[in-house]
Amino acid sequence: MTDADQELRVSKIRNGTVIDHLAAGQALNVLALLGIDGSGGEGVSVGMNVPSDTLATKDIVKVEDRELSQSEVDVLAVISPEATINIIREYDVIEKQRIDRPESVDGVLSCPNRNCITTGDEPIRTRFAVLEEGLRCHYCGEIIRESEITAHLTVT
Ligand code: CTP
Ligand code: ZN
Repeated sequence: MTDADQELRVSKIRNGTVIDHLAAGQALNVLALLGIDGSGGEGVSVGMNVPSDTLATKDIVKVEDRELSQSEVDVLAVISPEATINIIREYDVIEKQRIDRPESVDGVLSCPNRNCITTGDEPIRTRFAVLEEGLRCHYCGEIIRESEITAHLTVT
């Protein structure tokens, strides 16, 4: 069986976004990143440990009728740098977005420091600089390590 045949266990979608070549184990983190828990009624297909040409196995997430915001793409680039994003219209892949490690991530993540200005009552959008050691809060300097990123997703 070819990879293409095996992938049919996750059907093609008509419109939306396919997040492909995720490192095995990242699918659930991507759902968390997108704020998807099933309650929003979105059509979502998830493949875990799917055979892949380029990775031993991969995860794949298909979200119907939805595209990713730049901030979501930026977090994805940090947690799964090999991922590819395919925009689907009328069953065709109309765009392949390669993702680059961003310089900063805006929104999406909350600062772990409870005294940070961004965690107060005033609505201040978070901003983290992307460094080798992790993400550093622009306002208070607190570091989120890459392994801890998913624990700091703001649920939208
Ligand atoms: N896909 C889908 N629904 C569609 C079209 C494509 O779910 N209507 C999925 C495919 O199953 C694949 C991804 O979107 O997982 C990218 O599609 P395509 O570019 O056709 O596949 P490849 O050439 O294998 O992708 P890549 O270049 O990333 O290896
Ligand atoms: Zn902070």
